[in-house]
Amino acid sequence: MEQEYFARGRFGEIMRTEDGKVLKLFFPEYPREKAEAEFRNAKYAYELGCTPIKVYEMVERDGRYGFTMDYCPGVSGNDMAFKKPAYILRGGKDLAAQHALVHSKKCHELRDIRTYVCGVLDTCPHMDFLTEDEKERAKRYIMSLPEEDTVLHLDLHTGNMMVDADGTVRIIDWTEASRGNRAVEIALMRFFFTEAELFAEATPLQNWIYARLRTVVGKPFFKEYRRLMPYSDEDVEKYSIIAYIYRREWDLVTERTKLSNHIKRCIEERCR
Ligand SMILES: Nc1ncnc2c1ncn2[C@@H]1O[C@H](COP(=O)(O)OP(=O)(O)O)[C@@H](O)[C@H]1O
Ligand SMILES: [Mg+2]
Repeated sequence: MEQEYFARGRFGEIMRTEDGKVLKLFFPEYPREKAEAEFRNAKYAYELGCTPIKVYEMVERDGRYGFTMDYCPGVSGNDMAFKKPAYILRGGKDLAAQHALVHSKKCHELRDIRTYVCGVLDTCPHMDFLTEDEKERAKRYIMSLPEEDTVLHLDLHTGNMMVDADGTVRIIDWTEASRGNRAVEIALMRFFFTEAELFAEATPLQNWIYARLRTVVGKPFFKEYRRLMPYSDEDVEKYSIIAYIYRREWDLVTERTKLSNHIKRCIEERCR
């Protein structure tokens, strides 16, 4: 039997199993297909060498779905900021190295982020700020971009990066893993490091501190990532519409207007 959960995520609980592994057990209403998709993503990520966290099997408990994996030692990059404040100066570089590792891999089996966001345009009610014509133009433009197999994590912030006592870094949480051009993920990181919601429940003072910290981490992140894997800013511009639509589906209150405006502008500028 599993022990009490030791971490609570957005969609489920993380528990230790008796044999020293970890069970990520989703909440009852979480769909089986999504649990299975994350299981498969995490398996590909392990097999490709994106992370050393091995994935074992799907589990069903009283109608809830989940899967088992290796225990990942250490604490998240966010917690490191409190445990060892000097780490703040190193975090951006570590995060960049993990992005470069993930982006060096190819996998055709992951979902294509282009077709995924076209589906969002078709079915997600949060996209109704766009006219039908704008949606059609956006889809035509997005599908005119080449199909690619580069692995994208798409939620690779410091909270999903675990740092152990030796300073070794491992990536977790492959919920959103996809394939596509890495410029999509760079555009998303640019948004994370400037405009994204920090912590919905934090006080204004806490958020002010987090906002300063994010700049301190963001600068070395981009510097190091560019050194490891050079890219052009034009490419990031070209692909940013995909990142904005992907993120807009999350419908976070403090991001709504910003993302809707970005999407409108991209369609105006690029989708003829
Ligand atoms: N394999 C693991 N080993 C140790 N801790 C884990 C593992 N997977 C998740 N966790 C812990 O649980 C938290 C939530 O898990 P995560 O997969 O990131 O879910 P969410 O999608 O909710 O962010 C993580 O921040 C981490 O503290
Ligand atoms: Mg997470």
